[in-house]
Amino acid sequence: MYVCICNAVTDRTIREAAASGHSFADLRRRTGCSDCCGSCEDMAREIFEEARAARTLDLPLLAAA
Ligand code: FES
Repeated sequence: MYVCICNAVTDRTIREAAASGHSFADLRRRTGCSDCCGSCEDMAREIFEEARAARTLDLPLLAAA
């Protein structure tokens, strides 16, 4: 789904950025997400933080495999 309508940024793009270890500032710089009207920022940050938390939780599982 589109999270940032101004810049056509999807939740998938946000999740992939977080999973790749990028910061939210990186995402903003690369995609323009939340850099125009700003109405998407809360949702974009929430999705980003959830994906980053999931990534962090996965690390011990990957190390153990
Ligand atoms: S909807 Fe994302 S900057 Fe406007």
